[in-house]
Amino acid sequence: MRRRPPALTHVREAPARQEPKKATRVLVEHHEVLRDLMRKLTETPRSEPGRRRALADELFDELWMHERIEEEIFYPAVRDITPAIAAAWSEHRQLSDQLAALTCAGPHTERFDRELGVLRDVLRSHAHLDEEQHMFPEIERFADEELLLDLGDRLQARLRRLRSSRRFRTLLRLQRALLRRTARSAAP
Ligand SMILES: [Fe+2]
Ligand SMILES: [Fe+2]
Repeated sequence: MRRRPPALTHVREAPARQEPKKATRVLVEHHEVLRDLMRKLTETPRSEPGRRRALADELFDELWMHERIEEEIFYPAVRDITPAIAAAWSEHRQLSDQLAALTCAGPHTERFDRELGVLRDVLRSHAHLDEEQHMFPEIERFADEELLLDLGDRLQARLRRLRSSRRFRTLLRLQRALLRRTARSAAP
């Protein structure tokens, strides 16, 4: 049986009793995890394809989890507060497509660098400019503090459950394998 490589970001598991945080703060902290992975990937040279692949796989898992907790918990709860939610859903599709393109690229190739650059731009535009600069401040201005704290609890709990779920990790690994196999068979 293949062993999963050790995590490279040292994402800390949330303690059993989680600190109360507003949903917007939980999400910004998770954006930091994504940015940190992106930075490490950018700094890792083509001569280290194994590390690049491991980092890209970790980014795949974290970004997938991020989209899932926003779409299942956060966006539905705040969709009446801001019109920005509608665009956010389609930006997630764009992010997922670009994540798939990066996953299919060989970590030692120029194409990997190109796909990584596009993913970085799409992520910056969605997470930093749209969510952190516009959507989250608007939500913090109009939503009840109690609602944001309750959502923050739910987001943290869901993230912790996803991170510790072997079934979920296996599902993501299979998804990546399928993407790569499809890309190989479609190659000229
Ligand atoms: Fe998002
Ligand atoms: Fe986000």
